[in-house]
Amino acid sequence: MASGRLSVVVTRRLPDVVETRLMELFDVKLRSDDTPMSREELAEAMREADVLIPTLNDRIDNGLIGQAGPQLRLIANYGAGVDHIDVATARQRGIQVTNTPGVLTDDTADMAMALILAVTRRIPEGLAAMQGGNWDGWAPTSFLGGRVAGRRLGILGMGRIGQAVARRARAFGMQVHYHNRNRLRAEIEDGLEATYWESLDQMVARMDVLSINCPHTPSTFHLMNARRLKLMKPSAVIVNTSRGEVIDENALTRQLKAGQLAGAGLDVYEHGSQANPDLRSMPNVVMLPHMGSATVEGRVEMGQKVMLNVKTFADGHRPPDLVLQALD
Ligand code: DGY
Repeated sequence: MASGRLSVVVTRRLPDVVETRLMELFDVKLRSDDTPMSREELAEAMREADVLIPTLNDRIDNGLIGQAGPQLRLIANYGAGVDHIDVATARQRGIQVTNTPGVLTDDTADMAMALILAVTRRIPEGLAAMQGGNWDGWAPTSFLGGRVAGRRLGILGMGRIGQAVARRARAFGMQVHYHNRNRLRAEIEDGLEATYWESLDQMVARMDVLSINCPHTPSTFHLMNARRLKLMKPSAVIVNTSRGEVIDENALTRQLKAGQLAGAGLDVYEHGSQANPDLRSMPNVVMLPHMGSATVEGRVEMGQKVMLNVKTFADGHRPPDLVLQALD
């Protein structure tokens, strides 16, 4: 902190307004090209900065944290999920970790709903027909999907985003069910008209649509494993806007191929951008490139949260979005 201002390294390009404000507030080093940093670049950043602003592309494991300089005191993640950061090791080293919860709730829930509709109403197939010039006109039996109203939606993970999905689903006439580590308070449950299932197996076996909304942690890794996926009804659809690691992607692919699941809507993949290639050719699978939070408003608000966390820390106070342990 030679200049009296915190030295901050940002690992990815951020929206212009965020970068401009960061430059006003801190002694900031921005990324010039929009590619993830290499491990060596990350290590170097952690040797020199007081504060690192990473994104979900940056795997900050105990090896990297071990190489951090003693000046690194805060990892202010640009994003809600912190499964790419070894939070426990960071805290042991006296490095605080913050994230950006709350500001991407509505955008992500919108995307979950969009995927539910896209898969059940076969929207990409209709789009492909139009773009390919293959539409001969309306026919009583073409592009038949399913009606979402009346369907049973099971929400796996009823935190902020899960609840936002529930509110949307109710507006579409769906019946809301959920499984969560902790049951919601009665007034929240009543407000959402949501039915709680203590047993995930029991819930999964009875749903028409399953939406994954829990974070990725050691205890949710492959929560939807081959055995659980097989419990789902063959007519059911699964939608994931959380983290790919919650579903065993190869098992899901096998099940879709075998016609034992009606479809999937995926915004996230078990191995980041390396989705199982077999998924790409399936007409009943809608794949998006992790764009759940990709609104201009959301990405600016994420930046504002990061700055609030860094500024509060710089002023000697506890940052508002301190992560105490890997989110569970
Ligand atoms: C997050 O913030 O963790 C989201 O996945 C980004 O879209």
